[in-house]
Amino acid sequence: MERIIILGGKGGVGKSSICAASAVKLSMLAPDKKILIISFDIAHNLTDLFQKEIGNKITQLNSNLWGIEPDPNIYAEDYTHNLLKKMKSFSKQIPLFGLIPQIDTFINSAFNADSIPLALKNAMFFQKILDAEDLNHNIQFDIIIADFPPTGNMIALFEIPEDQIKGIVKYTLNFLNSIRKTINNFSNILGNLINPLSDNNNRNDLGDEIIEMIREIEHRGERVTKLIHDIGSLRLVTIAEKPSYEEVRRAHILTKKYIKLDGIHINMLTPKDSAKNCFFCEKQRDIQLKYIKQITEEFQNFIIWESQKLGREPIGFEGLSELADEIYGKEITAEKILYPQ
Ligand SMILES: Nc1ncnc2c1ncn2[C@@H]1O[C@H](COP(=O)(O)OP(=O)(O)OP(=O)(O)O)[C@@H](O)[C@H]1O
Ligand SMILES: [Mg+2]
Repeated sequence: MERIIILGGKGGVGKSSICAASAVKLSMLAPDKKILIISFDIAHNLTDLFQKEIGNKITQLNSNLWGIEPDPNIYAEDYTHNLLKKMKSFSKQIPLFGLIPQIDTFINSAFNADSIPLALKNAMFFQKILDAEDLNHNIQFDIIIADFPPTGNMIALFEIPEDQIKGIVKYTLNFLNSIRKTINNFSNILGNLINPLSDNNNRNDLGDEIIEMIREIEHRGERVTKLIHDIGSLRLVTIAEKPSYEEVRRAHILTKKYIKLDGIHINMLTPKDSAKNCFFCEKQRDIQLKYIKQITEEFQNFIIWESQKLGREPIGFEGLSELADEIYGKEITAEKILYPQ
C-alpha cells in the first residue's frame, strides 16, 4: 500500500462527495494503481454517489476502482466467533462443567458481536482492512481513500487502534468475571460437588490463549498506527462558515498525533457569477471571502482547495468527475492529488 487518504470534517460539508470525486479522478489519472474507497460512516452513501449497489463487499466500480460500505458487525463476529470457540472448548475440559447446559447458553449470549461497542467494532474493521497481512480478499490496493464520519466519531477511529488493546482487555476481563460469578452460583447450588475453577492448568491454558489473541490485536494495532502515521494523509473539509471552520481547527489539533494533515477543502462556495446578479448571493459570498481569508491565513502551511457549489448534485461518474475538476482544476496530476505538499 502506498497511500491512505482520509477525508474528515463536520457533518454535511461534502466529505463523501469530495472523497468519491477524488477517487474517481485518481482512478482516471493513475490507471495502473488499484484504488479502494471505503465508507466509515455508518450512514453509508457510496451506493448513492456511485449509483451502484455496494454494501459490505468489495465492489468493482471501474477498471481500477473498488468500493465498500462495511458492516462492522461482520468483522467483530469473526473475532467473537474465535474467542467463543476457545471458551466452549475450555468449558468442556472442566469436569461436569460441560454438562451444564446453562453455561453454553450463557457463553453464547454474553459473547457475541452485539456486546462489543460500535467504536471498537469499527476499529476492528478499520485495522483489518488496512492491515495488508490480514486482508480477506485477493486485491492488493495501492491507494485507500476513506470517507470518515463527522469529527467526534473520526477521532474515535484514530484513537481506538492505540487504545484497542485496553478495550479488549477490559472486555475480556469483564467476560471472565461474569463466567466466574456464574460458576460460583452453580457451586453454591451444587455445594462442593464440583469446584471447576480449582483446575489451574485449564485456567492457565485459557489465559494463554486469550493473551495470545490480545497480543495479535495489539500487534495489528501497532502496525496500523504506524501505517497511518507513515503513509496517511488527512484532508479536512469545511464550508466557509464559522461552525465548520471551528470544527476543522479542533479536528486538526485532535488528529495531529495520529496522522499528517495535508490540506483543507473549502467547499460549496457561492459561484462568482451568481453573486453578480443576486443580492443575497453577493452578501453570502462576502461572508465566505472573509472566512476563506481566515482559513488561508491559519492554514498557510497546507494546501487549500476551493470548490464552488455546482449547479447539480455531484453524483455518478460524470457528476463526480465534474466536482473533481471543480476542486483540483483540469490540469491536475495524480501525483499532486496524492502528495499535494
Ligand atoms: N461542491 C458541491 N456542489 C454541489 N453540491 C454539493 C457539493 N458538495 C457536496 N454537495 C452536496 O451536498 C450534500 C452533502 O454532501 P456530502 O454528503 O458529500 O457531505 P458529507 O460531509 O459527507 O455529509 P455527512 O456528514 O452527512 O456524511 C450532498 O447532497 C452533495 O451532493
Ligand atoms: Mg458523508
